[in-house]
Amino acid sequence: MTEKNSIVLSMKKIDKRFTGVHALKGVDFELRAGEIHALVGENGAGKSTLMKALTGIFPKDSGEIEYLGNIIDPLCPKDVLKIGIGIIHQELNMMDHLTVAQNIFIGRESVKTGGLFLDEVSQNKRTEELFSRLNMDIDPTELLGNLTVGKQQMVEIAKAVSHDLKILILDEPTAALTETEIHELFSIMKDLAGKGVGLIYISHRMDEINRITDRVTVLRDGEYVGTKNTLEVKKEEIIHMMVGRVIYEEPKASSNVSGDADIVLRVEGLNAGRMVRNVSFSLRKGEILGFAGLMGAGRTETARAIFGADRIESGRIWIKGEEVIIHSPMDAVSHGVGYLSEDRKRYGLATGLSVMDNAILASYDDYEHGLFLHAGRIAEITDEYVRKLNVKTPSLDQLLKNLSGGNQQKVVIAKWLIKNSDILIFDEPTRGIDVGAKSEIYTLMNELVKEGKSIIMISSELTEILRMSDRIAVMCEGRITGELSIEDASQEVIMKYATLRTRE
Ligand SMILES: Nc1ncnc2c1ncn2[C@@H]1O[C@H](COP(=O)(O)OP(=O)(O)OP(=O)(O)O)[C@@H](O)[C@H]1O
Ligand SMILES: [Mg+2]
Repeated sequence: MTEKNSIVLSMKKIDKRFTGVHALKGVDFELRAGEIHALVGENGAGKSTLMKALTGIFPKDSGEIEYLGNIIDPLCPKDVLKIGIGIIHQELNMMDHLTVAQNIFIGRESVKTGGLFLDEVSQNKRTEELFSRLNMDIDPTELLGNLTVGKQQMVEIAKAVSHDLKILILDEPTAALTETEIHELFSIMKDLAGKGVGLIYISHRMDEINRITDRVTVLRDGEYVGTKNTLEVKKEEIIHMMVGRVIYEEPKASSNVSGDADIVLRVEGLNAGRMVRNVSFSLRKGEILGFAGLMGAGRTETARAIFGADRIESGRIWIKGEEVIIHSPMDAVSHGVGYLSEDRKRYGLATGLSVMDNAILASYDDYEHGLFLHAGRIAEITDEYVRKLNVKTPSLDQLLKNLSGGNQQKVVIAKWLIKNSDILIFDEPTRGIDVGAKSEIYTLMNELVKEGKSIIMISSELTEILRMSDRIAVMCEGRITGELSIEDASQEVIMKYATLRTRE
């Protein structure tokens, strides 16, 4: 076992260029045994790239990696795992059509004597033992695709932990986790650290840095800015190191919308599956209506029903005073509704297409020119929004999958802005987005409502709800349990309604 506090990893002057992007500019990074070390920085700062260079996903251009006293040159993730370095990626990396246990043992299936058959029984049993050791409640025989994204993430964590690791890297693991799951994850992390494993933790949630880490290293624009002891540094100072400026996070004092502004969307008695029960609300022109609640309260399902992505069982919807029937997203879009989905990978993005193709995806019809597309105007409008949202990309033709996670999200936002929808549903719009870009998106949302658009913002971050909303609807178990004016809202009141159970 490595001695506690001894240096397990030292990366020196790591340099990496992609076409058109200098992603890492001589970055240094050091990790000790038994510490949890946060790696932070804005979207595109180079965090994931540094970790990918360490785990051999692609080679660094130059620099040195010293691991347990030896210089290593990581060539592929499998070899790196063998020597004790595991990574949980920002994007989930598992097979939906295999069982949980199969996913965990993929590539190292336990083989029965005789050698031909995989021993499912022992594999399931070992998975069960692993889960009980980690206090996770997941069925090893369940198909992975049937689990929530949060649970899938937990499986990926269990898989990494099932190896004998000296270093575990977690690249934004909590984005899709519920509060309970985050709690479980943190106790697993602390447990590992206690056993001498060094953990590298990437997150945009500043409160987590305080809760769990010992040291923080900040990257900015591919450069190393500095390393601090978490206990000795204030949140504001870290943010300042990340973005080079001070950012204020004040709650909204009062609503910007008058009580007699036109109602642009009215929903009455909406039912759709178990998670949308008798939902009624209205949205005014120029209003930001916050949808608060715990993960799984039915907010996304409500949004999906209104957007026509899930079947509506009963209920009525009026848009700008006229009753509408919405059977499909196409119907919703034609009525001026845009939906920025929470799970961008699955519903919002075509990562194999370029930035421009993605940005224009919802608006092809608007840019048709006889048989052709109006290429000049498409480039112009994409460029305008790429600038407005400060999307970090070398060109509009860059494939989306080559952008950093947060920058991919900005492209989805651009898509709905270009479509010029009057009613925008933003589902967790700033998840995975850094503090600097967050305030850019907030500014933009405020501009949009000033122009007369209306926004439904689903968010699990109470500070975000309190900072942006004019009015707040709180959901619990598929129902709206409270409606609050921003003047009456506080974290406590919201939490009270968010946990107001009406069902057995
Ligand atoms: N495979 C690739 N090809 C081209 N450019 C890339 C590739 N991977 C990353 N980049 C670029 O390198 C830069 C750093 O990206 P990286 O993914 O490391 O950022 P990050 O700090 O992890 O950001 P985020 O918080 O958004 O995940 C970005 O400008 C990104 O577009
Ligand atoms: Mg990243």
